[in-house]
Amino acid sequence: MVAYSTDDAGIPAPHDGLSQSVGPNGPLLLQDHYLIQKLAHFDRERVPERVVHAKGGGAYGELEITEDVSQYTRAGLFQKGKKTPLLLRFSTVAGELGSADSARDPRGFALKFYTEEGNYDLVGNNTPIFFIRDPSKFPDFIHSQKRRADNQLRDNNNQWDFWTLNPESAHQVSFVMTDRGTPKNWRHMHGFGSHTFMWYNAAGEKFWVKYHFKTDQGVENLTAGEAKALEAEDPDAFRRDLWNAIEKGEYPSWTVNVQVMPFEAAADYRFNPFDLTKVWPHEDYPEITIGRFTLNRNPQNYFAELEQSAFQPSSMVPGIAASPDKMLQGRLFSYPDTQRYRIGPNFLHLPVNRPLSPVHSYNRDGAMAFHASPDPVYAPNTVGGPVADQELFTGADYHVAGEIVRSAYELHKEDDDFAQPRALWEKVLTDSERANLVGNIVGHASAPEVTADMKRRVVEYWTNVHPDLGGGVAKGLGVQG
Ligand code: HEM
Repeated sequence: MVAYSTDDAGIPAPHDGLSQSVGPNGPLLLQDHYLIQKLAHFDRERVPERVVHAKGGGAYGELEITEDVSQYTRAGLFQKGKKTPLLLRFSTVAGELGSADSARDPRGFALKFYTEEGNYDLVGNNTPIFFIRDPSKFPDFIHSQKRRADNQLRDNNNQWDFWTLNPESAHQVSFVMTDRGTPKNWRHMHGFGSHTFMWYNAAGEKFWVKYHFKTDQGVENLTAGEAKALEAEDPDAFRRDLWNAIEKGEYPSWTVNVQVMPFEAAADYRFNPFDLTKVWPHEDYPEITIGRFTLNRNPQNYFAELEQSAFQPSSMVPGIAASPDKMLQGRLFSYPDTQRYRIGPNFLHLPVNRPLSPVHSYNRDGAMAFHASPDPVYAPNTVGGPVADQELFTGADYHVAGEIVRSAYELHKEDDDFAQPRALWEKVLTDSERANLVGNIVGHASAPEVTADMKRRVVEYWTNVHPDLGGGVAKGLGVQG
């Protein structure tokens, strides 16, 4: 049976394509509420795109924990045998909503786990590190990557200006300039929680953890030339790839690994373990496999389920807490703040963001509130309202004290911004990957807007990583000495 079309109040539509007029040739009528609703709703179809990570796609799936890590965390979703539904949204960072999926950029890897203790959001990237280590630099960093104020063009000179003035960026820029900066699609790349997080167990013992999501499809990348060609040929290639794979029943999966550092070990680790520009070498803390997740269901409506999805690093469930990583601390504020603006104050009421577990919040009202808690409307109360279970958070507390300052990390002030990218060049990359890294840097820094002085700074930056790398870049850019 054909369903009848209706307006948004469910009233049968008078027609799907004719408005009401005074005679067939006359003006239209204000009483045609159907036409008015249709145009007025259309006029409001867009919400602001995400200020970063605007272009993306994603799917639903399931996490299954296969190992016992109860000695590290009490979080329900990480207990052996537990299965938890999830949403994963992939994205590029700098491009707008319609931009190309294959552009050179980190890729967002944002997970929302619908756990029995509320939503746990792990909003990571396909890189284990980041460009900066203080959140006050983030808006400037993004401004340097996005469009100029005057001509609205992206500007590689601005990008190198920011990177070379902020040498802590070298590790992440190295990663993005390798072919991992242009993955073949979203299925063939790893994901990372990137930050150091805290886990605590039922006995209140604390650990520092890093998450690694290893693609079971294998890592596959595009060369710079292939990525550029794909930008023109099919800007939505990654969206298409993921959608088609799931429609065909080829469900992509990732193995979930963690590195676990005892709480006390952070104080005298050989470098600052909360610095987001660094990885923890595996010889110190090997990866432990704890489970696997699979993507197995496409969304029905992109706007409702992905554009309005809202991932917040601040959404952490009992057993998981923030570390003192300053970047993570900044992000705890920024995401729910932008989502209140981008979607509205009750964005957590939307089906995609709403937890599957019961909500007994004392927050109330506001625009578009549609799940309403009953009385009582305040806490504490003597009329049987919900009460907090403080016991669930036993173990999350730790001691800190100090002067209020504006200062870089004191912990391991001697840390070197170039040591880990140097190790990447020397020990991790193959000869052909090194050649492509040089070629990709040279290609990027050869854009017409990059000045001769900037090219010299680019060479100096890469020489600090490794003289051979600097030498290769100098040769490619035609910089003498
Ligand atoms: C202080 C540093 C940072 C700030 C202030 C920041 C801010 C933001 C903001 C405002 C959004 C848009 C969110 C929305 O509209 O829903 C966003 C998106 C995103 N950010 Fe960050 N970000 C920071 C660093 C990072 C880092 C270090 C990572 C990865 C490790 C990351 C990964 C993402 C991802 C994956 C998204 C897209 C989430 C989605 O798919 O909806 N960001 N960021």
